[in-house]
Amino acid sequence: MSGPDVLSVTAEIFPLIKTGGLADVAGALPLALAKQGVRVTSLVPGYPAVMAALEGAERIHRFNSLMGGRASLLRARAGALDLLVIDAPHLYDRPGNPYLQPSGKEWADNGVRFAALAKVAAEIGMGLLADYRPDVIQAHDWHAGLTPAYLRYARKDAGRRAPPVVLSIHNLAFQGRFPARLLAKIGLPQEAFAIDGVEYYGDIGYLKAGIQFADQVTTVSPSYAAEITTEEGGMGLGGLLKSRARHLVGILNGIDTEVWNPATDPDIKAQYTAENVELRAINKLAVQSHFGLRPDSEAPLFGILSRLTDQKGVDLLLDALPVLCAEGAQLVVCGQGEARYEAAFAEAARTYPGLVGRFVGYREDLAHLIQAGADAILAPSRFEPCGLTQLCAMRYGAIPVVSRTGGLSDTIIDANSAAIARSAATGVQFAPPTRDMLEDAIRRTCALYRDPIGWRRVQLNAMASDSSWRVSAGEYAAMFRRLLVGRDVVMPANDAAPEEPRSFAGYGEEPARRPSRRRSPSRPLPTQEIPRAAESA
Ligand code: ADP
Ligand code: GLC
Repeated sequence: MSGPDVLSVTAEIFPLIKTGGLADVAGALPLALAKQGVRVTSLVPGYPAVMAALEGAERIHRFNSLMGGRASLLRARAGALDLLVIDAPHLYDRPGNPYLQPSGKEWADNGVRFAALAKVAAEIGMGLLADYRPDVIQAHDWHAGLTPAYLRYARKDAGRRAPPVVLSIHNLAFQGRFPARLLAKIGLPQEAFAIDGVEYYGDIGYLKAGIQFADQVTTVSPSYAAEITTEEGGMGLGGLLKSRARHLVGILNGIDTEVWNPATDPDIKAQYTAENVELRAINKLAVQSHFGLRPDSEAPLFGILSRLTDQKGVDLLLDALPVLCAEGAQLVVCGQGEARYEAAFAEAARTYPGLVGRFVGYREDLAHLIQAGADAILAPSRFEPCGLTQLCAMRYGAIPVVSRTGGLSDTIIDANSAAIARSAATGVQFAPPTRDMLEDAIRRTCALYRDPIGWRRVQLNAMASDSSWRVSAGEYAAMFRRLLVGRDVVMPANDAAPEEPRSFAGYGEEPARRPSRRRSPSRPLPTQEIPRAAESA
């Protein structure tokens, strides 16, 4: 089956711009969906890194004013990705990551910057472009959360022409909450500021608006889908999510198994498969040497690749370090985030020389080497919508040691004796996420490591698990098609006669030139992390 055409709206997309798993998903899902006959075009802000990566960019539309400045829309490719890029220098031509200034402070106008992303998405959905009109819009996280709100308040004129919107929640801790005074600036009518509109505890809630108005809400694992409808897991949005439960589904993330393939990975010292997994020892030595650890092949080597935040339970790991080192194990840390955690790991490396090493920052190649050389990868998260590092770990034969929450519970089978005996175990799980239970998990992992036959069995099970997008892409494709049943959608949409683009009041667009009717075949650190229990005030 061919179609539908999906517009994926995202603040990050691998390999162009990435601060976390959102980018991985936004970059890999389009390729996996292509194999299901679903054509995905990704709408992304034109940050410098994105603009530099474009191939064959074509200016297809000009906005006289997009949130206070001139802007245009580019159609381009980057590798296998079909892109629409918002070239708006006043919003996106800045150093730093998508959300933060180089100093680490959020940009003061993030509310406007990402409202622009959603507004352009909604305009495209309503027929802004003569030769491209998506059948479905997939809006990722709060950055794109206003998309269905813009459509909702324009629908009076749009009638049934507005495409259905899927809001995909990657992390409920980041909600996009901005002052009510922005309403007019971002082009929403006063009537939108209501409890059944975009209003959220006296502010404007971008993610709230998305949940409120999306035709379908997805999140990135079945367990997280259930957790977020509870008071604790809902972080202030649990009641709304519960009321939308019929339209909420959890679809597990996958990983790009070509990017993450130990048999071909150019960033690792020795490539390997399950058949010659003993070659990992070479990568282990390389990791130990890179981090200045004792070159000890017998010491269990733990790794963590993570944003250094409360969510990720890195404080639990810092507390558990004496136990880890007493077990004769080693730890490498590759991550960045809260300054207090960065400093604490630096201190730990001084306290345990030769046993603990850390790199503060973001390095894709180092991430690959650690996956290929560490014996175990830690993910002691307090909550985890899905998590990708445990999936990469399994593929690379590193044993994931994870808390039993969200996607970590859905993807890892604990190495208890029954699961080992049945050759089902793929990692070590612990609950609840406390220092004691993490210490216990570290001890269990080290004991398993000292049993080479049991260890190898778990390692090979993990390597044999399917962490690809194959199954999940099928679920997304089926969901997109279900949303179109009964709609007067013309599929494929682009064979239909182009309709006149319509505009929102005040946008003042004029197409730069009528584009050719060519149709090409065919994702802080996020801002505003809200501490888990602190949200409902
Ligand atoms: P989250 O999106 O919550 O940060 P995920 O596990 O879903 O967590 O995704 C994190 C992604 O970022 C993974 O691809 C992981 O390998 C990568 N990553 C995290 N920290 C670093 C780092 N310091 N350097 C390189 N890659 C990193
Ligand atoms: C978020 C979540 C993570 C998930 C990723 C991609 O950042 O914290 O669990 O894997 O998004 O969906």
